[in-house]
Amino acid sequence: MTPHEAIPWIAYPAMDDTQRIAAAQAFAAGIANRRSCREIGAGPIPRAVIEAAILAAGTAPSGANHQPWHFAVITDPARKRAIREAAEEEERVFYAGKAGQEWLEALAPLGTDADKGFLEKAPAIIAIFGQRRGGAVEGEMRQNYYITESVGIATGFLLLALHAAGLATLTHTPNPMRFLNRICERPGHEKPVMMVVVGHPEPHASIPVHATRKKPLERISSWL
Ligand SMILES: Cc1cc2nc3c(=O)[nH]c(=O)nc-3n(C[C@H](O)[C@H](O)[C@H](O)COP(=O)(O)O)c2cc1C
Repeated sequence: MTPHEAIPWIAYPAMDDTQRIAAAQAFAAGIANRRSCREIGAGPIPRAVIEAAILAAGTAPSGANHQPWHFAVITDPARKRAIREAAEEEERVFYAGKAGQEWLEALAPLGTDADKGFLEKAPAIIAIFGQRRGGAVEGEMRQNYYITESVGIATGFLLLALHAAGLATLTHTPNPMRFLNRICERPGHEKPVMMVVVGHPEPHASIPVHATRKKPLERISSWL
């Protein structure tokens, strides 16, 4: 390695292999029942939970550690309504045929449609932006790298942190999402990547069976 500023490795908890396997299996079991929720109610959630989840997301690996993300948390009813209206406008066109037959057929078992009432009802929407420029240091405007990949990993951390706090989430991506720049007052060099809707499930909330069917280990992995 070339000379660079460094600190000693952070000691992780000591474990033998039996404990290690148990820890990995416990983690997998803990996230196995995370499901996207499209019936999120109006019940409030603590701001501190969202802040901690965003801090967790902010620890994700990123290209050159530029952390090319911004999380805009929308709780203001007028802005939530504006997001719902803009999203539903896109979704109506999408479900009317823009998506194409194959995509619509793929979505059918999830039962989704152009009605996005949860965007207005849920206590918070987290709009996640990828920054084309920014750099590692505040105020810099350097080129960023692997923006979509980095934002995807950070969003995964965010979803798991919110799940660990007992909250329901939905990853929502009406296309295009440029309206988010205007509503969230974000600059043009930031690209909206995803919205994460967060809150408590409605008492009558359900899960599409299709979403529970996850591929087995042998279909998603190979050992070489
Ligand atoms: C990048 C991405 C975009 C998604 N966009 C939407 C969306 O716009 N609307 C929606 O209802 N679900 C959306 N989802 C949720 C998926 O439908 C859901 O993750 C999938 O059906 C599996 O279900 P699960 O999350 O409950 O395991 C999206 C998920 C991802 C990862």
